[in-house]
Amino acid sequence: MRIIVKENYEEMSKTAASVVKSQIVLHPDCVLGCATGGTPLGLYRELVKAYQNGDLDFSEACFFNLDEYRDLDPANNQSYAHYMKENFFDHINADPDRIHIPDGMAEDVDAECRRYDADIARHGGIDLQILGIGVNGHIGFNEPNAHFCPDTHKVVLDDSTIEANARYFSSMAEVPTEAITMGIRPILQSKTLLLLANGENKAEAVRSALRGPICPELPASILQLHPNVIIVLDREAARNL
Ligand code: F6R
Repeated sequence: MRIIVKENYEEMSKTAASVVKSQIVLHPDCVLGCATGGTPLGLYRELVKAYQNGDLDFSEACFFNLDEYRDLDPANNQSYAHYMKENFFDHINADPDRIHIPDGMAEDVDAECRRYDADIARHGGIDLQILGIGVNGHIGFNEPNAHFCPDTHKVVLDDSTIEANARYFSSMAEVPTEAITMGIRPILQSKTLLLLANGENKAEAVRSALRGPICPELPASILQLHPNVIIVLDREAARNL
């Protein structure tokens, strides 16, 4: 595990972007696992900049997102499908046929979850998975639980997750309470994991994930078992290490 601590959010984003850039340059046809939320926004900005400068070509890359809210239409501006278009895909030369996001509107959720896992497997798994971390230690929307869920599954979001996500919605009542998330298996089977965290409110989750016992009550702690993890933190998120 390599832990890189940068002075601030901007430096964290640039460092994380340099990891993704190398991946795309060395393996243009790679499978990139994408996260949403506030943390990777700076990373996506850097990647868009690199594409616009002519330094990156995403046309052969394939993308799998970690998660999507339940019952939000992809056109809803709070859906993760919309987030990805707005912050990344609409600004690069990603091939729409190579973009994969769980269908939060699927009537048969179990079938959708099985389809998503099969799609990931068909592409040979994920080469580089970008991850954020929840204040409760979740990765994707794998919430603290009595056991690790290996497969893509429907999840009832934790109160702390709903509270953290509320900042993007105009009222608490609008915040989705369920999601579909990639399970722990495809995350752990990714060749490289790139976890980003910034801000004081992530410091305790980061400490528990990297220094605490490996347990499903702190899902990110399972990253300790992965042979190739890059953690990029700002100083505040690293303060309890
Ligand atoms: C989002 C995701 C989540 C977030 C986490 C942190 O696709 O998988 O695990 O990475 O909730 O969210 P932010 O970055 O908004 O603090």
